[in-house]
Amino acid sequence: MRRKMAAGNWKMNGSSAALGVISELAAAHADSTDTDTDIVICPPAPLLFRASELARSSALTIGAQDCHSAPSGAFTGDIAAPMIADTGATHVIVGHSERRDAYHESNSDVRAKTMAAWDAGLTAILCIGESAATREAGNTLDIIAEQLSGSVPDGTTGGNLVVAYEPVWAIGTGAVATTAQINEVHDFIRTRLIQRLGDEVGTAIRLLYGGSVKPGNATEIFQCANVDGALVGGASLKAQDFTPIIHALI
Ligand code: G3P
Repeated sequence: MRRKMAAGNWKMNGSSAALGVISELAAAHADSTDTDTDIVICPPAPLLFRASELARSSALTIGAQDCHSAPSGAFTGDIAAPMIADTGATHVIVGHSERRDAYHESNSDVRAKTMAAWDAGLTAILCIGESAATREAGNTLDIIAEQLSGSVPDGTTGGNLVVAYEPVWAIGTGAVATTAQINEVHDFIRTRLIQRLGDEVGTAIRLLYGGSVKPGNATEIFQCANVDGALVGGASLKAQDFTPIIHALI
């Protein structure tokens, strides 16, 4: 039985004033033993230390939005996975489509970042997803297969990897994928993971859907068999929006 996960990606939004959202969610989920759902907030890097302190002793955990593949070194402006772990954060998003696009991150870059995350003891939330052009051309599953084989390293325990399917055309657009589209891709991802990693590990990896998840559509999305939760952007910025999404999972 996989634990469910509600993960919030704040992207480049939020200042110290936004930490009130973390306090509110931590207070609402103060008992870490009362649910089989992991709640993860991924704020911008400058907020990681304080967010981790506020989340301590609650069911809430904190993640970063990216990491470098090296543990340290001359990489001005970058953040290493051990530094993320040092803040008290436990998760890191890797391979988000915004980074694949704006920073030209390749599948092998994402694979290296995932291994760096594991070396630091972090759980990687690894994002994959097709563009609108790819879907229109009928190549969605080919691209998903390529991203999976290129980005997912060998050696996962199952627990340290979460795969987030985020169709690029559904991110921040309000154009949520249909449950038929979500089912098709999530079932495909599950099959591929099992084929490659074996039944036990392939079944243990959690699969999140991301792309315009809102309180109004979360319940329907979570009914898809291989959807174990969501990676939420805009609707994770306010507790009043994120809380009903968490409740749709619990
Ligand atoms: O990583 C989450 C994301 O890309 C989805 O964003 O705003 O469409 O929920 P949003």
